[in-house]
This record gives sequence, C-alpha cells and structure tokens, in this order.
Amino acid sequence: MRTHTCGALTGADIGQSVRLCGWVHRRRDHGGLIFIDLRDRWGLTQVVFNPSSGDALHAQAKDLRSEFCVAVKGTVSKRPEGTLNPKLPTGEIEVVVEELTILNASATPPFEIGGDSDVTEELRYTYRYLDLRRPELRDRILLRNQVIRVIRRVLDDSGFVDVETPILTKSTPEGARDYLVPSRLSHGHFFALPQSPQLYKQLLMVSGFDRYYQIARCFRDEDLRADRQPEFTQLDIEMSYVDEEMLFELIEKIFSAVWTEAVKQPLAVPFQRMTYAECMGRFGSDKPDLRFGMEIIDFTGCFKNTGFKRFQELLSSGGTIRGLVATGGNTLSAKGIEQLTELAKQAGAAGLLPIRVTETELVCPVAKHLGDEALRAVVDTGKAKVGDLILLVADQPAKTLPVLGALRNALAQQLNLIPKGQFAFAWVTDFPLFKYNAEEKRWDSEHHPFTAPHSDDIAFLESDPGKVRSRSYDLILNGLELGSGSIRIHDRAMQETIFRVLGLPDDEVQHRFGFLLNAFKYGAPPHGGIAPGIDRLIALITDAPSIREVIAFPKTQKAIDLMVSAPSDVSARQLKELGLTLLKK
Ligand code: AMO
Repeated sequence: MRTHTCGALTGADIGQSVRLCGWVHRRRDHGGLIFIDLRDRWGLTQVVFNPSSGDALHAQAKDLRSEFCVAVKGTVSKRPEGTLNPKLPTGEIEVVVEELTILNASATPPFEIGGDSDVTEELRYTYRYLDLRRPELRDRILLRNQVIRVIRRVLDDSGFVDVETPILTKSTPEGARDYLVPSRLSHGHFFALPQSPQLYKQLLMVSGFDRYYQIARCFRDEDLRADRQPEFTQLDIEMSYVDEEMLFELIEKIFSAVWTEAVKQPLAVPFQRMTYAECMGRFGSDKPDLRFGMEIIDFTGCFKNTGFKRFQELLSSGGTIRGLVATGGNTLSAKGIEQLTELAKQAGAAGLLPIRVTETELVCPVAKHLGDEALRAVVDTGKAKVGDLILLVADQPAKTLPVLGALRNALAQQLNLIPKGQFAFAWVTDFPLFKYNAEEKRWDSEHHPFTAPHSDDIAFLESDPGKVRSRSYDLILNGLELGSGSIRIHDRAMQETIFRVLGLPDDEVQHRFGFLLNAFKYGAPPHGGIAPGIDRLIALITDAPSIREVIAFPKTQKAIDLMVSAPSDVSARQLKELGLTLLKK
C-alpha cells in the first residue's frame, strides 16, 4: 500500500513516484490548491491537490477532514521557493497527488490531535488511542521502546538471562497493599499480584542462573501520586557473587549506553556515592536534587553566647540550629517567606527564622534578642552576601534536617535554581536496616526484610535495631528515587533473626516465607540486585509532569482505566463461581 513512510522523503527523492498512507493531520484549502499534512508514526509529509489533476480528485480532496485515514499516490516535488520548512525532515518536498483513496473516514475527534489546546485528562484517557496519536505522547512511547532495547542489549551482552516470573502469586512484602485475585478452584483462597518479583529473582539465584533480568510489571495498591501508578514497570536485576560496586558499575554501564544511544547526551560515570547519613546531613533528604547546591549549614556554634532564651534552652537539650543560604533569595516577598514558613511547619518545624542580608542591615524578626554578634557569625559561617536570604530552623537534628530538605526544594523552585536538561545521578548507601513504627510499636524494614545487615552492625541486630545499617542502596536522579536494591541475606539463620526483629511469629514466617527459608538450606549463593523504575526513568528523561505521560494505557489518580472502564462490576454468576458475596454498599 505504501512505498515510504510520512517521515522518509527528502530532496533526494524529487521526481519519484510514491505511495503514502496516513492520517489527515491538517488541511488547508487555498481555493485552488488543497494542502494536507499527512501523518504517521514517522512524521509529516505535505501532500498537494492541484486543480489541474482533474475535478474528480479535487472534489474528493475537498471532502477530507481531520483524522481521515487515507492513501495517496503522487510525485515528489520540490516545494516552491519561500515555502520550505527547515523544521521538518520532509520540509524540502511535497507530494503532488494523482490518486487518493479514503481508507476510512473519521468522526470529528473529541480533541485536536495536531493542536495544543488544553484537553482534560478525563477526555484524554477516555480516548487514549487518539491521545496516543499526538506527536508528543507518541514520541515518549517510542523513546521508552528505544531505552528498553538498549537496556536489553547491554544485559544480553553481559550474560544476563531474561526470565519471566508469575503474575498470579503470593503476597510479597514491599510495603503496599496487594491486589488480590480470587481462586475459582480453591474458594476462600486468593492469589496476590506481585508487588515485585523479589523472591522469585532470589530463588533464581539459588537455581544457579547467576545473572537474571526482567522488564517486570509490578502491582501495588497504594495512594497514587505523579510518580506512582498501581501497575508499573521495573528493570529487575539480580546477580550472584556480587558486591555493591559490581552492581553500581553494571547500572552505570546500562545508563551510559541509554544516554548515549537514546537520550543523545553524554553521561558522566561513575555516579557520585554518598552514605545515607551524609546525604541527610548535607541535603536533608535521602533523594536530594543534586542539580543545584544550597547545602545545609550548621549554625549552632554561632549561638553559643546568645541571650535568646529559646535558643539557649534548645542548645542545652542537645538541639541544633541549621539552615540554608539562598543566593539572591532576598528577592523573595514577605508572602513567599510566609509560604516557606507554612511548609516548614507542615514538615514538622516549630517555625522558621529568616535573615535578609541587605546593603545596610541584617533584617531578622528577632534580631534584638539574638544580638549583633550572633547574626554576624551566621553571615560569616554561611558566607552570605548582600542580596542573600538565610533561613534557620532550630530543633533536634532528626527534626531539622527533613524540614530543611523540604525548604531546599521549595526555595530552588521559587528562585528558579533548577537547570533544565541536566541529569544528576547519585548512589545513596548504608541506609538504616529498620525504621521504628511508632503507631504499631514495632520495627519495620526500611527496604525489605531480605536485605543484608552491614557486617559491622550485626552485633546490634537484636539489642539495638535502630543502630543497624543495611547493605541497601538507592539510585537517585534529579530529586527522585529511581531505583533501589540491596545485597541480600542468603543465610537461613540470619533471615530468621531478621524476621524475629520484625516481630513476625514463627508460624507466620513459615506460612509466608517457608519456601524461601527452605531454599536457603540448599547451598544458596551470596547474591544481590536492584530494580530501577522504568516509568520514572522515561518521565525524567522526557521531563514529563507525571509517569502517566510515559505509559501507553495508564490509570487515573483514582486507579481507574477510563478507556475500558476498569475496574467494573461482574455478574452474579462469576461471583458465585468464585465463592464470593459482596457486602452491601
Ligand atoms: P522498590 O519498592 O524500592 O524496590 O521499587 C523499586 C523502584 O520501582 C519504582 N516504583 C514505582 N514506580 C511507579 N509506581 C509505583 N507505585 C512504584 N513503586 C516503586 C521506583 C522504585 O525506586 N524488589 C525491590 C528491588 C530490589 O531490592 O531489588 C523493589 O521493588 O522507581
């Protein structure tokens, strides 16, 4: 049906007879001449209907409307002087049509495919198949495909085996709610959709596959945000006989290739490495945006001799006074500072103390109480200059750091400090193994229960779990957690200890993880892995506002597929077969 795609023809093809197929993207009727931009996946080609080609053809062309699917036969011609379009790869030529076949007419689309008018998400998701015709979205899906191809190639070349793992499985503890699937053959029993292939990939190491990967679909029933979907895709990796550095190098090799071949930008490797403690101390976050500086500064020493009673009390109870120096931040209005104060309070601070550095003075609401000496010391310590804004938070260290982390991001947004088109990767290591769940009065795993403890901290596992560091690591990119992983436990006794610290009763351990403990009896090799999120990766590369923009058929914020109307009700017969009855609403 066609000799070329709509993105292929150039000046080199002038004079050739060609056939093209595609959609009517735009139509311009200049009385005599009718121009159509014909669109397919590869691009746009201008086709022209000339009145001299006959009345019948011209009349046919007059009937064409947006999104008609057509085939044309014609001759490639050079566009007249002054009408060349250097922005289009096909912008030097046009196809003068001799034959037109309307393959399928189109109803008026609910939104313009070629336009950039604001369309509601509801409409876009209901007509996702049309939304996907829009060049911007189409290009993101094409880039996604290209990135996955590069990933597969690098892994194939490095001896990795792609193994599929079950979708109908048993609950795995990644920390979210499970999606459950009732069983027709065992009433009252349910499969869980995998939150990740975590345990299967570990078992594949016990089986001896040594190097596993999978572009794996994961399912988590959790509250959705811009970077979360109920079903999403991971690049899931597991290796035997590895340490952290080997895994980091592998991932750096994959991302270097992705950047060179798909993003078309060089990527500096190795990525920066930071421990969790360093990361929190410098940036107040375990996933800081490293595209800008503005690190946290400890100003505690500046207030040793202050007469300000609140600070004196805080310092004598082990508190700290830390803050940020925002270069040029004095441009922020009083309202801007009010917003930051509100944010600081939401993040858990009692308040926020701003100091504006102006030509003539240091403007601070409690300047009198703090005293000149302390204020000067703050300016010196922070190397602040005229025009800067200093923000101080005074509290216990564990409280000040996350507040300053949140402020740092907000300030960078407000002051426009975040450069576009840059990619700042880093590895964050040595996370705590556990976090205390105050509501339930127990320890939870920070990553997941299969993560190995740091060998220096094993002695504290049962006596002081909060002190134990883990062998887990996160890959961060531009302020997001792109992936996480760990060196795993491969020793049965150690795994049992961890379950004990997590407060899991023996019978529950047997019921949920008996198969894993059993497998560890048969010479399980040391192993470790990681899982970067593919959706987040593509969203970051394409600067998409949400991962929904890089998934062909995503769910809405309410976890609904508007196009097919899922989830939906089912018949009474299906429920009966599954042995289910519904509660009254
Ligand atoms: P984790 O739970 O940290 O680790 O997930 C790894 C990566 O998966 C992505 N991700 C998501 N992406 C979109 N929507 C979601 N709801 C969502 N949840 C997670 C993120 C995240 O960094 N089995 C372990 C990995 C391992 O230890 O090897 C795991 O799943 O990019």
